Amino acid sequence: MTGSALWHGFADMSVVSRAEFVLTRGEGCRVWDDTGREYLDATAGLWFANVGHGRREIADAMAEQGARLAAYSSFGDIVVNTAARLADEVAALAPMPDARVFFTSGGSDSVDTAVKMVRRWTQLTAPDGATPRTTIAVLTHAYHGMHQGGTALAGIPANRDGVPDLDTDVIHLTHGDLEDAVARLDEAGEVAAVFAEPVTGAGGVRFAGEEFLLGLRKACAERGTLFVADEVITGFGRTGAWFGSELLGLEPDLVLCAKGLTSGYAPMGAVLASERVWAPFYAEGAGVWRHGYTYGAHAVAAAAGLANLAIMRDERLPEHVAEHAPLLHSSLAEALADVAAVTDVRTAPGYLAAVQLADPAAVEPAVHALRAHGVSTRGLAGGALQVSPPLVMTTDEITDLASRFAAALA
Ligand SMILES: Cc1ncc(COP(=O)(O)O)c(C=O)c1O
Repeated sequence: MTGSALWHGFADMSVVSRAEFVLTRGEGCRVWDDTGREYLDATAGLWFANVGHGRREIADAMAEQGARLAAYSSFGDIVVNTAARLADEVAALAPMPDARVFFTSGGSDSVDTAVKMVRRWTQLTAPDGATPRTTIAVLTHAYHGMHQGGTALAGIPANRDGVPDLDTDVIHLTHGDLEDAVARLDEAGEVAAVFAEPVTGAGGVRFAGEEFLLGLRKACAERGTLFVADEVITGFGRTGAWFGSELLGLEPDLVLCAKGLTSGYAPMGAVLASERVWAPFYAEGAGVWRHGYTYGAHAVAAAAGLANLAIMRDERLPEHVAEHAPLLHSSLAEALADVAAVTDVRTAPGYLAAVQLADPAAVEPAVHALRAHGVSTRGLAGGALQVSPPLVMTTDEITDLASRFAAALA
């Protein structure tokens, strides 16, 4: 059997071109392949299907918007009313007062927009005669997308391999080690911004803890360094709060989001800016900031976002996650306690966990064994399996998921 003409991302095409895993539909926490087999979705697609698959309300809102005005420009003074409404709703949810919302087409766009926004902000605010700060600090294990800025910022070394000279000054702070992080910031001198995921996702689901993150945030404030929370995964309910920054009290200068903003029904992301950052851009005489994306405030995507947020509010999904996450964590830990192939179940606030395999090279066989037991998951950096189900996952589905992991990995 040969696969389609699709060139897959993050794939060994010599293998994948012979056999693709073809999905045809989804409903709630389940997806079906082209042979009709059903799978529990352990990953919410790629950490995005927060309200679950097949939500008719979102599809209908997108169809209605598509027929009315699918898209227009958002450059200059133009905006489609639906996108303006979504910006207001997102600003009201943002973990900072009086936020402004710069829409993008996804998480990598949000990261690169933020890199440029930080660089422009340091130019606009540098004291007379001072050289604007340029260095950006990131945590080890970090994933900040795959555009040029995000690749330069990669804390997963393999994601930078073979792509030198990316034209961004970057330093790496050891994840979870506050003393080291602060020492490196001081050693580097004037750092423009620290980018940090409240929970490191693709780098293996690693939660550095409240003390580390709050300490890092404080160190930034004391050094005039912007604190940028990359909430592409942790935004919109995943941690049991609307944003991880809100859960931890981080009060970031910028928040990056995507995924859960539309639950993946349309590709869309956003940079949420605090007044400290947006004010110099909005000031009289600041002029045009020459940045933007054709599909940044796409109307069909915005309609998906509004319908998605309505579901999250109506079904109280952040609260649902806060209530049921302990069951997800304990069910996995108990089910996998005696499984020799598993060395650890890492957990983080909310519907976030990683099953660490003793042999990192066993990830692909493990993914296939899980598929045979009706679970769709994927490998993360360092040889772990991702557990980040849709936020609508119920208690029965959680215990079912944990026992399928145990049966497959045994
Ligand atoms: C923390 C984080 N930032 C940025 C991105 C990039 O998002 P996208 O794949 O939508 O470009 C991701 C994707 O998983 C992510 O996890």
